[in-house]
Amino acid sequence: MLDVANMDWRRLLDALPCYVSLQDPELRVIWGNTVHRRDFGEAKARTCSKIYKLRKSQCADCIVKKTLEDGEERSKELQLTTRNGERLNVIAHSAPFYDATNQLLGVVVTKVNITSVKEMQKQLIMVGQTVAGMAHSIKNIMMGLDGGIYIVNSGIKDDDQKEIKDGWEIVLLNFEKLSRLVKDILYCSRDREPNYKLINPNSVVTDVYNLFKDLAVRYSIEIKLDLDPGLDEAVIDPDGLHTVLANLVTNAMDACKMDLWKDTHLIEIRTKIGSDGSTIFEVADNGMGIDKELKHHVFEDFFTSKGDKGTGLGLMVTQKILKEHGGEITFRSRPSHGTTFVAIFPKRSIEGAKSGNEGR
Ligand SMILES: Nc1ncnc2c1ncn2[C@@H]1O[C@H](COP(=O)(O)OP(=O)(O)OP(=O)(O)O)[C@@H](O)[C@H]1O
Ligand SMILES: [Mg+2]
Repeated sequence: MLDVANMDWRRLLDALPCYVSLQDPELRVIWGNTVHRRDFGEAKARTCSKIYKLRKSQCADCIVKKTLEDGEERSKELQLTTRNGERLNVIAHSAPFYDATNQLLGVVVTKVNITSVKEMQKQLIMVGQTVAGMAHSIKNIMMGLDGGIYIVNSGIKDDDQKEIKDGWEIVLLNFEKLSRLVKDILYCSRDREPNYKLINPNSVVTDVYNLFKDLAVRYSIEIKLDLDPGLDEAVIDPDGLHTVLANLVTNAMDACKMDLWKDTHLIEIRTKIGSDGSTIFEVADNGMGIDKELKHHVFEDFFTSKGDKGTGLGLMVTQKILKEHGGEITFRSRPSHGTTFVAIFPKRSIEGAKSGNEGR
């Protein structure tokens, strides 16, 4: 039977999942409930700024101080640090604490941990920005298509074969851009098992080379192939591999276009067999390279240094495809010299690929 009249209320507060603490008029924390003790240690009458390792700016607008002054309740979002060094986002609420004679003894502070909500909020903002970025990319591509169609039409009207050919090239280029963007969006929007097939890796590389070679000429970039003739078969999802290579070559071309230091630009696509039988693809460029500060960010979801010309989907999707294959992607880069991306697909047999448990 619950005896509410004689209940020890501290035990009730101890059972709560949010932080509850009591602060005296000198702002010292004189008691904290179980979760408070777990994350911030024993109160030991330490001041709140010490216990929660608050920044000065947060103390400048102290809700506990204000509640002590006027007896009004207040709420505020704060960043605290636990005794293990973990940063938390909380909503703190201060309420006056009176004795039986209505004398203000201190302030009861409750804090609700909203760190995961904040994280989700950040991700939602990022998704919003990404969708806006994609819409922008699609708009740019549509404008490119529009321009190409205009040139083709005008060529047909004037019966000018060269104009038709030039316009058609622009249409094809933008069509390829659009289909790559759609593929990237599809790849990153769901988890999928690779559609393993026994393929000739060198012929996928050659397909990608054929796709980009004319465009490269237009930007005065040379693309060279260095294919290991011994690499005649591997079990890889051909669409996934095509997407990986197309993304790496597109990035390499962008890096060459943005490079202001060299007169001639070269991209080399290489294939090799690893000592463990893995299939290795390298895409090397002598473009602008990757700055030291950017190196840690290139694989981050939606990271781009290209403003509204990039979505940051390329390497995100590339890394996802490699992970799905149980492989890995790495790079080495020297700013203003160039970059080499290395994609390694582990060896697997077609039977193992079907059962889905080999090479992982
Ligand atoms: N070969 C490269 N040389 C220099 N920087 C590179 C290279 N490859 C990638 N990066 C850097 O990594 C970033 C992320 O690349 P990612 O392919 O994910 O996105 P993006 O190319 O910016 O956009 P999108 O792929 O949508 O066109 C690029 O913005 C660029 O800063
Ligand atoms: Mg890219």
